[in-house]
Amino acid sequence: MRVLGIETTCDETAVGIVEERLGGGEILANEVMSQIARHAAYGGVVPEIAARAHIEVLERLIDRALRRAGLEVGRLDAIAAAAGPGLIGGVLVGLTAGKALALAAGKPFIAVNHLEAHALTARLTEGVEFPYLALIVSGGHTQLVAVRGVGDYRRLGSTVDDAAGEAFDKVGKMLGLPYPGGPAVEELAREGEPSRFDLPRPMLGRPGADFSLSGLKTAVRQELLKLGENPSETDKRDLAASFQAAIVDVIVDRVRSGLRDFAPERPNALVIGGGVGANGAIRRALTRFCAEAGLRFLAPPPELCADNGAMIAWAGLERLKLNLVDDLDFAARPRWPLDNAASAAHHGKA
Ligand code: KG4
Ligand code: ZN
Repeated sequence: MRVLGIETTCDETAVGIVEERLGGGEILANEVMSQIARHAAYGGVVPEIAARAHIEVLERLIDRALRRAGLEVGRLDAIAAAAGPGLIGGVLVGLTAGKALALAAGKPFIAVNHLEAHALTARLTEGVEFPYLALIVSGGHTQLVAVRGVGDYRRLGSTVDDAAGEAFDKVGKMLGLPYPGGPAVEELAREGEPSRFDLPRPMLGRPGADFSLSGLKTAVRQELLKLGENPSETDKRDLAASFQAAIVDVIVDRVRSGLRDFAPERPNALVIGGGVGANGAIRRALTRFCAEAGLRFLAPPPELCADNGAMIAWAGLERLKLNLVDDLDFAARPRWPLDNAASAAHHGKA
């Protein structure tokens, strides 16, 4: 079984093709075109620029993915596209292209929830069995999900304010780093002293698995103000390291709490997804936590944590196997929570 997937919900235009294998999948193509350079000057993603850029490159990217996989459209079993959640203009571009391709080729069409795709990626790479715990941390989302089956999700917690990537990006901006801030903050923090600034760990020890990260970001701003007009490189490094240490502590604590809420079942693994999942400090801390908790930790390679087409194709393949195909009038969803109610709405075409 082979599926092509299209991703255009944010600032990457991406097309992937995956094929089913025993215990997972094989990626036949995974073409990604990042728009970071176009948005960098604005310090964030500009929706109109994003949608236009998706239109400009998507067709070429589909051709390139097919060529890379050595396939004609006719040899695919279905076409999948992310139908949300995300920036509506961009979602419409990918969704419409996916429907058109499916119609022209006479193939089934599958509308994929972008968060579901992040949550299922570890089944593509590692073939992990249900149930498992998924931590989705990106520029737009921060949530902990009990993944019990395809379409069977229970949200254990999510951020009540900023997403983890958003916190990294805002702190990066404060520290004068280029957009997106995440990788730059991690780099700057590498040589910094993580215990120098005493930053808050919001939600630590609280029941449930919700996150709150805006207070942490505000605390960083206050420390920066105290440092005066021209903080030294050392000051900035230490502040970046202290911020990263705080967010790592919060994430580990929320995962620990979410794991308790997973009961009575026991997850087979903790899997991470989303761009922030590329962060080395977070990966190391979760590796350590899982070793202590006797839990498998599965972190897909950074390029599969960030937005990509292979994950959409894989989620499409998982749904196709269960005959969960969609009609061509499936509407784009700027908001689309990942839980059972939303999944039921998916089948009933809400
Ligand atoms: O999943 P993603 O590619 O796009 C969505 O937001 O859906 O995630 C992008 C986010 C950005 O906020 C970026 O700063 C963050 O992931 N990010 C990182 C790292 N790499 C990317 N945050 C922390 N450390 C990193 N190494
Ligand atoms: Zn994402």
